[in-house]
Amino acid sequence: KKTENQLLVIFGASGDLTARKLVPSLFNLYVARQLPKNFIVLGTSRSDMTDNEFRNRVVLDSKYLKPKLEDLQKDYIEGFSNSFFYEDLGGSYNTHYGRLQKRIEDLDTKYGLDGNVIYYFSTPPTLYQPIAKRLGDVGLNNQQNGWKRVIVEKPFGYDLETAKELNSGLQEHFAETQIYRIDHYLGKETVQNLLVTRFANTIFEPLWNRNYIHHVEVTNAESVGVEKRGGYYDTSGALRDMFQNHLLQIVSLIVMEPPIGDAPEDIRNEKVKALKSLRVMTDPEVLKSHTIRGQYVGSEIKGEKIKGYREEDGVAKDSTTETYAAIKFFVDNWRWKDVPFYVRTAKRMPTKVTEVVIHFKSPHHHIFENSGVNNKDNKLIIRIQPDEGILMKFGVKVPGQGFKVERANLDFYYSSLAETRVMEAYERLLLDCMQGDATLYARSDEVEAAWQFVDPILTYWNKTEDVRMYGYAAGVWGPENADELIEGIGYWRNPSE
Ligand code: BG6
Repeated sequence: KKTENQLLVIFGASGDLTARKLVPSLFNLYVARQLPKNFIVLGTSRSDMTDNEFRNRVVLDSKYLKPKLEDLQKDYIEGFSNSFFYEDLGGSYNTHYGRLQKRIEDLDTKYGLDGNVIYYFSTPPTLYQPIAKRLGDVGLNNQQNGWKRVIVEKPFGYDLETAKELNSGLQEHFAETQIYRIDHYLGKETVQNLLVTRFANTIFEPLWNRNYIHHVEVTNAESVGVEKRGGYYDTSGALRDMFQNHLLQIVSLIVMEPPIGDAPEDIRNEKVKALKSLRVMTDPEVLKSHTIRGQYVGSEIKGEKIKGYREEDGVAKDSTTETYAAIKFFVDNWRWKDVPFYVRTAKRMPTKVTEVVIHFKSPHHHIFENSGVNNKDNKLIIRIQPDEGILMKFGVKVPGQGFKVERANLDFYYSSLAETRVMEAYERLLLDCMQGDATLYARSDEVEAAWQFVDPILTYWNKTEDVRMYGYAAGVWGPENADELIEGIGYWRNPSE
């Protein structure tokens, strides 16, 4: 696909995301020669900085880029850093839009950017609407001369109501087709591979339904705590931070029907349908038995003291924000009726891993009854990260007398594709937006459908006094009570198994 000449304006350019993700992704595109011929980055934020200070900060002296810059020629690095410029936007991102407009026009003329602009909103979310409005006020949303696109970082709202407000606030100034809501999980190769596994093979799809699938498990575990983001995290929690967006995106790809083609709207329409078919839980009894929340408490791992969540900087001492969430739910449609989904996400787990496990039903009539309980069912394990790949577990005969069955693996790992460079998520998504491809971006109705499902859980957790908050020691697989959720089904697959 062709990438047209363009300007990338980053709001929040002095922030962590710009240095940690955006600029390194742009650098990878530069090295891979995938940036357009004429391409300029204009950083903006509240800080006062010169162009050179900005270049030093995000490129030349950046600790995130350093490993990539070693052994490269000075000229080559400068070829990249010289395309970075900076303009400050005043204390509240409120003023100076006339100046910004002038700067954009000047850069456009000088560097031949053909009037094409991406505005990347990486500021605190309360600023998204005001910035969109200011851009609209000075006509910077005008597409008469070149296209204009907006990339918005999560969170997309705090609940359904605020998500709707945000969507309509943005849509007052930009058409939905101009708005790209980024969910970096969709940029992960293995998440996209869910679509290919399902719809480019004949062997899985015939089994991908209630007749053959017993239950579905999705685990997202991080070994880190909230790091330096306690202040933000304490207003968010696991359900808002990971489940509403990243995990429900993964769920939508597991649940969706085959799209009619690979056009962005073909795929996005099916994802919305999938999200709308999740059974919204409102009955307190159901919510009680289908949801579990927890918080990590201080512990010691290999002699190192680990802080509990409530002792982290920026976190309230009596915080009731969850760092662990496990949800059981059903999908009300023809394909999935009565198949339970178990989805969990947490910080301070024993390891960092994200995986999907499709548990198939046991054979209807098992003739090798004595072969061991756990050896009966097939599992398809889609490893999103790390060790990206796919694993199929199936029974084989143990050599020797009788019919003892043991599980064996058929596996594929991305790392064995030695010749292929797997793009990083942000890199892939940025390039897609530069080319006007919104397939891997969340549409407004997708975001709202996800909130529709999550809202009642949050309300129940926040309003009901007898909802327990289970503590779990940092470094274990969450509260023991989470096993109750999956009782009758078996046990959570803790991914080192
Ligand atoms: C972010 C969350 O969206 O995703 C973080 O805000 C989380 O809390 C991160 O750590 C996880 O992303 P990844 O790609 O490391 O799994």
